[in-house]
Amino acid sequence: MSRIPLIAGNWKMHKTGPEAVETARDLAQLCSDIQDIEVMIAPTFLSLPLVAASIEDTSVKIGAQNLYFEKQGAFTGEVSADMIKAAGAQYVIIGHSERRQYFDETDSSVCKKINSAIKSGLKPILCIGETESQRADEKTFLILDKQVSDGLKGFGLDELAHLVLAYEPVWAIGTGKTASVDQVRQVHQYLRSSLEKLFSKDFSNQTRILYGGSVNPENAKDLMGIEDVDGALVGGASLDANEFINIIKYNK
Ligand code: PGA
Repeated sequence: MSRIPLIAGNWKMHKTGPEAVETARDLAQLCSDIQDIEVMIAPTFLSLPLVAASIEDTSVKIGAQNLYFEKQGAFTGEVSADMIKAAGAQYVIIGHSERRQYFDETDSSVCKKINSAIKSGLKPILCIGETESQRADEKTFLILDKQVSDGLKGFGLDELAHLVLAYEPVWAIGTGKTASVDQVRQVHQYLRSSLEKLFSKDFSNQTRILYGGSVNPENAKDLMGIEDVDGALVGGASLDANEFINIIKYNK
C-alpha cells in the first residue's frame, strides 16, 4: 500500500500573524509544482485563520499545534477541535513532547484530545518519543509502547483511518542532534509492527509514521529514504520557506 509522504512544519510559538501569512504565502508559491507529497504547516492559534485564508487556494494544508478536548464551555484560554476545524485546519498535532514536558500533558489527556479531533473531523498527528535518559536506560520501546497503546486506547479502526504517528526522540528536538539512520529505522520498524499487533496489518500498512527531531535540508534525504519513514515533522527548519522547501524537495 502506498503512503503519501507528509512533511509538516510545526511553527511552535513563532511568528506574528503578518509574519506567518508572509511565510505561508512564500511557501505555497514554492510548493506550486509539488506532487505526491502533502505539505502542512501548523502556525499558532492566533495566526491559524489568517494563514488558512491566505493560502486557501493552494496545496499547502493547515494544522493546529494542540487543542482542548472539551467541546465548549468555561475553560478559559482553551480552544476546541470544532473551532480549529472551522478556522480552516485539517490536521492537529497532539501530545508533542513540549506539551508533555511543560504543560503536564499525559497519555490519558492525549487520548481524549485524539478522540475530540476525530469527532470534529481533524486528522490527529500523535507525537511520541523517549527522552535521553529513557534511551540510555534501554526503555525506548517500553515508553513508545505505552504512549501508543494509552494514546490510542479504545478507538476502532474506522476512527483511526486518518491517524498520523510522529516519532520524535525528545533528545533530538531542537538540539541539532538527529537520530541516526539506524536508530530511526529500528524504531519505525518497531512502530509499524506494533500498529499491526494492536490493530491490523492493513491499518499498519496505511498509517503514516513521521520522523521529527532536528530534520534539516542536509539530513532530510537520508532520513526520508528509510523504508518505514513516511515524512517529517519539522520545527526550526520549517520557519523559513526557503529552508523548508529544501526539506520538502528532499528527493530532487
Ligand atoms: P525541531 O523540532 O525540528 O526544531 O527539532 C521538531 C518538533 O518539535 O516537531
